[in-house]
Amino acid sequence: MSHYLTRRPRRNRKNEVIRDLVQENTVSVNDLIFPIFVIEGENKAVEITSMPGIYRYSTDKMLEEIAACRELGIKTFAPFPVIDEAKKDRFAQESYNAEGLFIKFIEAVKKNFPDVVLMTDVAMDPYSSDGHDGLVDNGEILNDPTLEFLGKMALAQARAGADIIGPSDMMDGRVGFLRNYLDSNGFQNVGIMSYTAKYASAFYGPFRDALDSAPKFGDKKTYQMNPANSREALLEAELDTLEGADYLMVKPGLPYLDIVKLLRDHSHLPIAVYNISGEYAMVKAAAEKGWIDGERARNEILLSFKRAGADIILTYFAKEYAQYLKR
Ligand code: PBG
Repeated sequence: MSHYLTRRPRRNRKNEVIRDLVQENTVSVNDLIFPIFVIEGENKAVEITSMPGIYRYSTDKMLEEIAACRELGIKTFAPFPVIDEAKKDRFAQESYNAEGLFIKFIEAVKKNFPDVVLMTDVAMDPYSSDGHDGLVDNGEILNDPTLEFLGKMALAQARAGADIIGPSDMMDGRVGFLRNYLDSNGFQNVGIMSYTAKYASAFYGPFRDALDSAPKFGDKKTYQMNPANSREALLEAELDTLEGADYLMVKPGLPYLDIVKLLRDHSHLPIAVYNISGEYAMVKAAAEKGWIDGERARNEILLSFKRAGADIILTYFAKEYAQYLKR
């Protein structure tokens, strides 16, 4: 028995070749940024318990890791430093120490791999004894005084060779402030990927384990956005655009696909999405238990970002996805 149907969408799903022909989105290694964790010392590789497969590497080891990723086609990295507790202070002064771990690391990468692009994080938390992204006074996270420290940090990173800076702090006015700070110091060509819509999320947990950077008191709700809001993301996007951002980012990724789409529809700038530590951990944990097929879940998640309109994906899956593409 067959019915008369003019439209049979299944015709376009008939076999793999046809499915490939009509496929609307793909994820290429060119779209990926790999976030990486750098530690002090030599010949060190310490796996992060809550992020199976992701290691904190000392600089020498990380250079090997970058070389391996480069062979796989990954060209952009977002490094984060793990700072000894003894080097943290209220003002995050270690963040602009020219002899410090992070600045030295940036120099080493650019010296060994001039073609590798580094997007460096600008926020006080990895270096702050308070574990907050801004300067703390009497339990309050100060906005304008924080900008000065972010400026010093961004300038030190730019001097060391950073290609793009990524302010992840969510202070008001920081994109304009940093643009002006970099320009007046001769760094007009350093880009800014703003963490435009960064939400106060439970999914940052494993990252804060990785860096030992959890807030020492309170939470980040006076600067990171309320997960209930989307119009506010448009306001942040408008401000970042006016202030000179070159890219807009949404973070976390999976629970905020609507925000990715919203910014895509309202902006001409490239849109990035950060598939964060907790999202990575969920997939790994469920796959370890045999509850889901981790590889297929990963591919589906990465595709969902492209479908929602992201141009760029920051993801801890970058290396294993590149390996998968090579197979
Ligand atoms: C801090 C920063 C965070 C992440 C990137 N930069 C954590 C936070 O805001 O507490 C999270 C990344 C991840 O969870 O993978 N400025």
